[in-house]
Amino acid sequence: MEQLQIRKTEITIPGLTKEYKFLQITDIHVAHQDEQSDEFDLHMVEKSHKKWFDLKKEMATKAGEISPEWCDGKSAEEMMEMLGEHAEEIGADALLISGDAVDFDSGANIRYMQDYIARRKLPVIYIPGNHEHMDEKEAHRNCYDLLAPVMPDPAFRVFDYGEFEIVAFDNARKDATDEQIAMLEAECAKGKPIVLLVHIPINLGYFKTTVRSQIGHYFLFGVEYDTDNARKLVDVIARPDNNIAAILAGHIHYTAEGEFTHGRMQYTTSSGLIGGCREITVKGE
Ligand SMILES: [Fe+2]
Ligand SMILES: [Fe+2]
Repeated sequence: MEQLQIRKTEITIPGLTKEYKFLQITDIHVAHQDEQSDEFDLHMVEKSHKKWFDLKKEMATKAGEISPEWCDGKSAEEMMEMLGEHAEEIGADALLISGDAVDFDSGANIRYMQDYIARRKLPVIYIPGNHEHMDEKEAHRNCYDLLAPVMPDPAFRVFDYGEFEIVAFDNARKDATDEQIAMLEAECAKGKPIVLLVHIPINLGYFKTTVRSQIGHYFLFGVEYDTDNARKLVDVIARPDNNIAAILAGHIHYTAEGEFTHGRMQYTTSSGLIGGCREITVKGE
């Protein structure tokens, strides 16, 4: 049976009067081709399909998760469709895509995402992963230009739900700009509760200890080998008096949940390639 692997999560924020629902999906690594794809693109697509067919199973097994057999017969695009339809079925307020929706930064992949988002019957909040930053054809192109049709201003966006907000933050290059840090600090200063959406999980609390020992420092944001600004951002997130209620991330391709600071949780969600997704309810006490 084709059953998604759904993780359910409640984020409790004192003072909220309404309930909000979101579906988080991540790391589907679509490699799409269309009539405009050239030979290089087609080669990349073929390489990507081969790589992820095995890698999704390897990554799931390593994390003690299941890569269901039915998923082997599905393309990444088909998984994207199922996940998007599920978000619509549960009446989510938005579909959150925490990066690596596509495997590399090509015209065909962005056109696919543009069409995917346009066809959804709910708002989509999409942030870049390190793979959205991967442009193997023009290594130095600023991927933000290419991403513009699917996410205006990918570095930092605020989605205001009145009683709380989702801050979508691009940390996928394992770095942060001065401007991004200042914007997060300014947002925290407003006092409204924040749910922070990033691609790379933040090296704090349970992730710093347990997840790091499972998967290594490379997969976490703001470790000692990262830039000064990356570590500066981690300090902002760690402040006990800021109003970040929860962090949602992807990148590691498995489900991990633990406090990033006392009483506040960080969550990563399994790859959509194995049907992973997270149904999130945000509500008051
Ligand atoms: Fe990924
Ligand atoms: Fe990633």
